[in-house]
Amino acid sequence: MQTTRVTDLIRLDHRWFRNQFAALEAARDDAATLTSLWTALSARLEVHAAAEETLFYPRLLKDDPDAADDTKDAIRDHNDIRDGIREAGKHRVGDDAWWDGVNATERANTEHMEEEEHGPLIEFEDTASPDEQADVASKFAAFEIEHAGARDISLEDKDPDEYLADNS
Ligand SMILES: [Fe+2]
Ligand SMILES: [Fe+2]
Repeated sequence: MQTTRVTDLIRLDHRWFRNQFAALEAARDDAATLTSLWTALSARLEVHAAAEETLFYPRLLKDDPDAADDTKDAIRDHNDIRDGIREAGKHRVGDDAWWDGVNATERANTEHMEEEEHGPLIEFEDTASPDEQADVASKFAAFEIEHAGARDISLEDKDPDEYLADNS
């Protein structure tokens, strides 16, 4: 039987993010559509980062202690993404300052997804068993449903060293 891998769920989210940023660009002159798209996209970015920090990176660290540096990089990148979302949130949708926040979020996210796809996702595929992949996948999917709309998750930046100390 084909089992689900958390690394594939993460890639699927990444693909959705790329599409949604493109959709934002296409809706440039339509504030109502921008508002809908950004509300969903920014919330999903937050939930995705929180799901990775709660479920994926702790498991990667357990399987592969060499992943410490990549994990700290990921937390830093997640903070940059959160900062961009917070900046956009201070401005009216469609204003130049709002786009600055959105563009900063997109830049941070694009760079981060590429790093994650070339590092941590491959490392986990190399070390995790099929059962472990499937176990983390089901928890990841449930987390994203439970916290849809960024419900009950912290939007605060995390200290990478503290995160590492707490999860290794
Ligand atoms: Fe990710
Ligand atoms: Fe990430």
